[in-house]
Amino acid sequence: MSGWVQIVGIGPGDAALVTPQVQEALAQATDAVGYIPYVERVSDNPNLTLHPSDNRVELDRSRHALEMAADGRRVVVVSSGDPGIFAMAAAVYEAVEHGDPIWRDLDIRVLPGITAMLAASAACGAPLGHDFCAINLSDNMKPWELIDKRLRLAAEADFAMAFYNPRSKSRPEGFKKALKTLKESCGDNRPMIFARNVSRPDQTIKIVPLQDTSPDMADMRTVVLLGSSQTRIIARDGTPMVYTPRSVAK
Ligand SMILES: C[S@@+](CC[C@H](N)C(=O)[O-])C[C@H]1O[C@@H](n2cnc3c(N)ncnc32)[C@H](O)[C@@H]1O
Repeated sequence: MSGWVQIVGIGPGDAALVTPQVQEALAQATDAVGYIPYVERVSDNPNLTLHPSDNRVELDRSRHALEMAADGRRVVVVSSGDPGIFAMAAAVYEAVEHGDPIWRDLDIRVLPGITAMLAASAACGAPLGHDFCAINLSDNMKPWELIDKRLRLAAEADFAMAFYNPRSKSRPEGFKKALKTLKESCGDNRPMIFARNVSRPDQTIKIVPLQDTSPDMADMRTVVLLGSSQTRIIARDGTPMVYTPRSVAK
């Protein structure tokens, strides 16, 4: 079989943050499959046949990519950031597990990219410098009770946290509830970082004490970071520097 599927991460936005490995895959591919705005980002290659689709059809999109590869096409499945972080890589493997057995013999690879939380962390210092966790705040694919439990336990374990998909028009209440839980569970006033459109020309970074945060500070173009109890702020003119020390006293 000469076809393949490469599930590629195209980073948070800046073209300089697309890895050479992903650029090579895009140059070799015949077809690009993905959510409309991500496919748009690779549309300058005239050799690529584009297959943009809505963001709620991940499994259909995965099956389409696998069918094309089985027909000998070289298919990139495009995700923003990293394809393994709340994105298409897991969806493609789910389609393989439950789909046509012939798909198991295909050449399927995941090419990593720079995920939003790492670009956001780098933009303000090193808030994820010690142990941390990442949580998708959308309850489209899991119950809110599970999100709430994970927030409480992450706070108890004193992780720094990164929150993806914080607040959308169809889920206006979720981030409000998340902030309430975090304010109660953390108890202190550690910094929360609202990083919007990271690595793009209109990037904004806002650092706000947790107890002063409000739901309207985040939208779907924002990744939100929360420090641990150890996270430090270095004040200076302009945006402060934020870091979480490498060690905790024994
Ligand atoms: C479906 S998730 C995809 C995450 C992606 N796979 C990654 O690794 O960054 C979409 C969420 O990622 C975050 N995100 C993606 N790109 C971003 C950027 N340039 N700036 C800020 N947040 C971003 C936002 O929280 C957004 O709601």
